[in-house]
Amino acid sequence: MSVVMIEPRAFPHEPVMVQEVLRALSLKPGDCVVDGTLGLGGHSLHFIDAIRPGGTLVGLDWDESMLAIARDRIGSPSGVTVHFIHSDYREMTMALQEYSIKPNGILLDLGLNSAQIEDPTRGITFKQNGPLDMRMDRTRGEPAAALLNRLSPQAIEDGLLEYGDERWARAIAKKIVERRKDQPLRMTDDLVECVLAAIPFGARDKRIHPATRTFQAVRIMANSELEGLDEALENAARALKPGGCLVVLSYHSGEDRIVKNAFSKLVEEGFHQLEKKPVGPTESEVRRNARSRSAKLRAIIKTSDKESHHERNSNYSSR
Ligand SMILES: C[S@@+](CC[C@H](N)C(=O)[O-])C[C@H]1O[C@@H](n2cnc3c(N)ncnc32)[C@H](O)[C@@H]1O
Repeated sequence: MSVVMIEPRAFPHEPVMVQEVLRALSLKPGDCVVDGTLGLGGHSLHFIDAIRPGGTLVGLDWDESMLAIARDRIGSPSGVTVHFIHSDYREMTMALQEYSIKPNGILLDLGLNSAQIEDPTRGITFKQNGPLDMRMDRTRGEPAAALLNRLSPQAIEDGLLEYGDERWARAIAKKIVERRKDQPLRMTDDLVECVLAAIPFGARDKRIHPATRTFQAVRIMANSELEGLDEALENAARALKPGGCLVVLSYHSGEDRIVKNAFSKLVEEGFHQLEKKPVGPTESEVRRNARSRSAKLRAIIKTSDKESHHERNSNYSSR
C-alpha cells in the first residue's frame, strides 16, 4: 500500500464546532478520550490540553496518510499518552479492548477533510482530473470506477438519491450506463462528463458545481460510509465509562438521520441526550470556516446516575 505523503502545513485547518464539542465532552485532566476520526488531529490537539496531565488520547483513522499527518502534528505531547491506530471506527470496540480502555469521551467527526478532498490522486474531487478511486482506505474495497462500471442503473440511481439527494439521479445513472457500454469509466473527468450530459444547463443549481452531489454520493458508496454506522454508534456509546459522552458531527441529512435514530434507541436503553435537536455552528464560525456550514452536533451520555446527568446537562445548556 502506498502512503501519500502530504506536507501538513499545506492544510491550515480549523476543526469544526470545537468549543461545542469540548463543552459536551467535559473532559478533565486524567481522562481518556477517543478521537474515532482523527483526520488532521484538529480536535485531538484541543483534547490533549483538556486531559493533561495523566490523560490518554486514542486516535483512529482508516486512512494511513491522515494518521501520518496527525502523528506529525501531535507528536509526543508531555503528560499525555497517545495511541494512533489505523482502524475503521466501526471496529473501535476491538481496538479499545486491545488497550483495555474505557473512554470518558468519544468524538466521531464524520466524512472527510480538506487534505483528502484536495489530493487529486484520490479522485474525490471533480476539480482536478484523477483516477476515479475515492477509497479512504486503499488497502480494501473497490474503487469508485469499478463500482460504477458494475452496478445496475437502479442501484446507481438509488445511491445518488439516497447519499446525494440528487434530483437528476435517474438521468445521471442512465448516462453512466450508456457511457460504460463504449468505454468503462476510469477518471474523475469521465464521471463529470456524465453528470454534465445529464443535467440540462438551465436546471443547474448555480451555487454548487453540478457534480457536487454525485461525487459525494459515489464517495459514500465506494467507502460504504453509512453501512453499519448505526451499530458503530451504539457500540461506541456502550463502550463509554458511566458518565462518559459520545459526540457526533454529521454533515448531511443521510448521516444525521442515522445518528438521530441510533440515539433514540440508546435513550430507550437509559442513555441521555444532551439536546433533543442537533446543535449547529455559530454564524461567525460559518463565516470563518465554510466546512462547518452543514455541521450538526448530537451528543449522548452513558450514565446510570440520573442526578449526575442532570447536573451535567444543565451546565451544558446554560453555557
Ligand atoms: C472530517 S475528518 C476529521 C477531522 C478531524 N476532526 C480534525 O479536526 O482534523 C474525518 C476523518 O475521519 C476519517 N474516517 C471517515 N470514516 C472513517 C471510518 N469509518 N473509520 C475511521 N476513520 C474514518 C477520514 O479518513 C477523515 O480523516
